[in-house]
Amino acid sequence: MDWGLQNRIAGIINPQNNRALMLAVDHGYFLGPTEKLENPTKVIAPLLKYCDSLMLTRGVQRACVPAATRTPMVLRVSGGSSIIGEDLSQEDITVSIQDALRLNASALAMSIFVGSKYEHQTIVNLGKLVGDAQQYGIPVLAVTAVGKELGKDARYLSLACRIAAEQGAHIVKTYYCENFEKVADSCPVPIIVAGGKKIPERDALELTYNSIKGGAVGVDMGRNIWQSEHPVAMIRAVRSIVHGNSDVERAYEMYKKLSSERPGKRPGAKPNIPRPIPNTPDPGNPRPEINTGSTSAGSPPDTI
Ligand code: 5RP
Repeated sequence: MDWGLQNRIAGIINPQNNRALMLAVDHGYFLGPTEKLENPTKVIAPLLKYCDSLMLTRGVQRACVPAATRTPMVLRVSGGSSIIGEDLSQEDITVSIQDALRLNASALAMSIFVGSKYEHQTIVNLGKLVGDAQQYGIPVLAVTAVGKELGKDARYLSLACRIAAEQGAHIVKTYYCENFEKVADSCPVPIIVAGGKKIPERDALELTYNSIKGGAVGVDMGRNIWQSEHPVAMIRAVRSIVHGNSDVERAYEMYKKLSSERPGKRPGAKPNIPRPIPNTPDPGNPRPEINTGSTSAGSPPDTI
């Protein structure tokens, strides 16, 4: 594998533990101002230092993320449909490789809609994108989209993931399901799991834990982080599973503890930072980040 490609993947999947925590904020590309992601700048700022990479569109990257950030960007380059349009699966590639390079993308992300009306178009687009991106050493992350009419079981997801990998995707994003091991086992490239619709925090932590146990390198989580009442506490708890090997109980305790803290309440009080888990690559205490703002806190349909 070429050095550039390998280096970019290493920014997304930590080569030391083969784990990845991606924060997804690309939902607006077809959902518009999704609940609790109305102001991406405010949502992203406090979370940026806790994720390994950020999945977003070029518009949000340019308008809402400081260029001095050290966090790798996974750039969504597909789109063309909206939640009120006729068919969500009618996507094309909307960003050129040249613009992706200007944005210093660490990976390009696009959706394929296996089993949909536009299956052919999206799968061919994936093959072409891999060919183009490979020339510049940029990896491609294929998102196996699901929807009302598309399945979400191991049989369907194995099919979709394998097709994405066969087209040359370097990383495949999919959903957790029963018998997830089957999906992971039959996909020859790393699999990362989407969070899906907002569920209770403990359940989302369980999904994270089970995904990794089932063979995923980690999660690409959006709504279950920034639609939480306590997004920072939630991403830190997720991180403690992905990078700190916490179990669900320990991560949930961490979430509860962090979400009950009110740093700054007592003048001069230090924020209560949980002790790092021994022998792990700094679970809740990642890279320093440029401070750009403060935190912010009807769900979209389960089409993503
Ligand atoms: C949209 C996406 C999202 O990035 C993905 O679904 C992850 O977000 P969430 O955890 O909210 O499902 O690919 O098509």
